[in-house]
Amino acid sequence: MHVVIVGSGIAGLTAAIRASSRHDVTLVTKGTLTDGATRYAQGGVAVALGADDSAALHQADTHVAAAGSADARAVEVLCTDGPARVRDLLALGVPFDRTTDRASLDRHGDDLARGREAAHGRWRVVHADGDATGAAIERTLADALHRRHVTILERTCLVDLVVREGAVVGLDVLDLLGEPRRLDADAVVLASGGAGHLYRETTNPLVATGDGQAAAWRAGAVLADVEFVQFHPTRLAVPDGGLVSEAVRGEGAVLRDARGDRFMTRLHPDAELAPRDVVARGIAAVVRDQGGAPVLLDATGLDPDFLVRRFPGLTRATRAAGLDWTREGVPVAPAAHYAMGGIATDAEGRTSLPGLLAVGEVACTGVHGANRLASNSLLEGLVFAVRAADALGAPRPGRVRLRGDATLDVVTVTDAADETRASRQDRTGGPDHRTGAADVRQAVQTVMTDRVGLLRDATGLASARRDLDHLAVASPTGVREHEDRALLDLARLTARAAEARTESRGAHARTDHPDTDPRAARPNGWVLRPAAVPQEVPA
Ligand code: SIN
Repeated sequence: MHVVIVGSGIAGLTAAIRASSRHDVTLVTKGTLTDGATRYAQGGVAVALGADDSAALHQADTHVAAAGSADARAVEVLCTDGPARVRDLLALGVPFDRTTDRASLDRHGDDLARGREAAHGRWRVVHADGDATGAAIERTLADALHRRHVTILERTCLVDLVVREGAVVGLDVLDLLGEPRRLDADAVVLASGGAGHLYRETTNPLVATGDGQAAAWRAGAVLADVEFVQFHPTRLAVPDGGLVSEAVRGEGAVLRDARGDRFMTRLHPDAELAPRDVVARGIAAVVRDQGGAPVLLDATGLDPDFLVRRFPGLTRATRAAGLDWTREGVPVAPAAHYAMGGIATDAEGRTSLPGLLAVGEVACTGVHGANRLASNSLLEGLVFAVRAADALGAPRPGRVRLRGDATLDVVTVTDAADETRASRQDRTGGPDHRTGAADVRQAVQTVMTDRVGLLRDATGLASARRDLDHLAVASPTGVREHEDRALLDLARLTARAAEARTESRGAHARTDHPDTDPRAARPNGWVLRPAAVPQEVPA
């Protein structure tokens, strides 16, 4: 069969490599092959490979971080398939770091070096080139892909999925020259990553604009858990500052406020290694109380030689910002990092639409619940991409179970007013009188950051929804406009979903509903029912 895979991070590359032995594969990617979020991943891959560890322990940590709403089957699959998938990477030649430390060799039974990150009960995060794990994996997978018979279409942007008789049969793209083109497919696998650019500050690369989620939603696929947006606690708070890995705190760095106080010790027994959502909110509160000034990540308690050797990329990044983190704290603040929600899938990547599969960050297997455990994302990309590739061509079950044994509560979003407005503008080609296209991304980011961010409440969410309803991207033509349309679609959906979840859980913190409601642990699914296109269009 002919399979089109969209995206070239760890999930897309893995799916393409695996599928290429049995299928005719085309891989479409918006940038070049190695653009995308994977290459920025620092911490590593969480995997229960050590003698002191087990899939059961990894599962338990994943569930605790997920705030009681992870899907048990998806978590089991992730943690039990994980070791085999990391061995695949070793066999492909990913240069995971090694150690000669006696205690580590004894504890783990092998010489893989392991880091520790927040909410992990074991040292189980394998890494490469210190803090450049994602880049090492991406490079190795891209090399492996080049040895396969796969057609690679770079600088090709997903616009929409093509649906015929209820099944996905291809996709519309903008090609390298910006020209619209249709690609037919027996199956489409979306592996197009996240949507960090919904927010002003993000650790994500520029390509992370939710194109896959939005296209799937417009095509009628069910999306789930989109209100669960993970903010990483520590982005280097300098212009264009990037991620500062949680592994730095895992090695012993601490967080301090402007007075030098280690505030996390007051907020959680695990202090800096509390679940990511707890640390991100703790930092945000201090930043607010300090009038916007970032907190400091203090790694001066670590041996300077070790710090530089263990984190060479971050040492370069801090030096480039004029900072010497062996001698001083460096400014950090939370930033949008990862989408726990996305296109609802089963453990084989199957979505609610026949012909459409989704893997990696674009998908929602439920494996992360309301808060992803650190360094489970690369593992997710590996595990579910292989399972999806293996499911290609297999008979589709009569009923795809999207979240384990739970039945998805499908809440239909009928956005008649907006759809009608957009349709009119598309048909008449008339200008959008509310917001010029150039402003849309900035406006979306402002609304999302201020009102659909780390802390939310009913008043802010309702006004966010109203403000988003007043934005439109009329007749998108170029890549940037298509991205803006995707961001706007997803922003609206996220605000709706956040409004509907009247509790606090993991990354979704409602100041007006601070408690977790045990009855709300199950996911909410969302599907767009497009409004009827008006028969008569006013002149
Ligand atoms: C980090 O290195 O802190 C990021 C890892 C992750 O997002 O899981």
